[in-house]
Amino acid sequence: MVNRLKDKVALVFGGGSAGEGWGNGKAAAVAYAREGAKVMVVDLNAEAAEQTSQIILSENGISSYTTANVTNSVDVQKVVSDTIKEFGQIDILHNNVGLPQMGSVTDISEENWQKAMDVNLKSVYLAMKYVIPHMKERKKGAIVNISSLAGIRYIGYPYPAYSASKAAVNHLTSSVALEYASYGIRVNAIMPGLINTPLIYNSISGQYDNVDEMVTARDASVPTGRMGTAWDIANAAVFLASDEASFITGVCLPVDGGQSIRC
Ligand SMILES: NC(=O)c1ccc[n+]([C@@H]2O[C@H](COP(=O)([O-])OP(=O)(O)OC[C@H]3O[C@@H](n4cnc5c(N)ncnc54)[C@H](O)[C@@H]3O)[C@@H](O)[C@H]2O)c1
Repeated sequence: MVNRLKDKVALVFGGGSAGEGWGNGKAAAVAYAREGAKVMVVDLNAEAAEQTSQIILSENGISSYTTANVTNSVDVQKVVSDTIKEFGQIDILHNNVGLPQMGSVTDISEENWQKAMDVNLKSVYLAMKYVIPHMKERKKGAIVNISSLAGIRYIGYPYPAYSASKAAVNHLTSSVALEYASYGIRVNAIMPGLINTPLIYNSISGQYDNVDEMVTARDASVPTGRMGTAWDIANAAVFLASDEASFITGVCLPVDGGQSIRC
């Protein structure tokens, strides 16, 4: 399908990728553009943001990129106003930034606990805080927050700060969805299960002896027998952001190969 997002503008926070290949945010940004959206790619890492934007341009899409720290309100405010200046509007806000901060409650430092809350939760609050007034004025908009299956299930990793922050993202999503439903703004979350993105090769080290062991164990944990890909998340995001999902709001959708119903 093409043009499901024609004439829409998408603002994607965390649209780069933690390494070579496809992260969830990078795939979502490209998937939005393939459906006709103009895409502003935002990332802390300028090179990663530029790479995603270049892919879109190379496919004859429309895109721009910028750097920002999504935990910083001045940065977020500037990105929102620059996006509106450049593209005229924001129809889709996609909050992808997230960090699997490891450490049980007895081990994790207060600093790392706070970092998880800032990167995973405050980021979503700030992006919505500055985009929603614009959407409210236009009486339309779709917000897609990337949560995690860890927000509703223990999935085997000792990262309670991550799990707690993602649980909060779920509830933030549903409460904001209700508050703004009558303004034509839909707010949904995706809860990815185990996804094979570059991020996992950087952040899950210490849990497994080597990469092969990690991939085998993660594949085996999923009822369908394999981890998801960034495209599984991106395809769900395109649907939730599109008018096809116009009657869907406040949902936290597991995209997890059935893992949430097995645990
Ligand atoms: N991969 C999985 O198995 C999995 C499972 C569940 C949920 N998730 C969620 O998916 C999302 C990320 O997936 P991904 O594969 O795209 O990860 P990723 O790390 O490849 O992409 C996140 C991007 O965010 C950027 N970023 C980090 N901190 C930032 C900040 N403060 N400001 C702006 N940009 C920042 C990074 O540079 C990176 O490019 C996270 O929310 C994560 O919790 C992933």
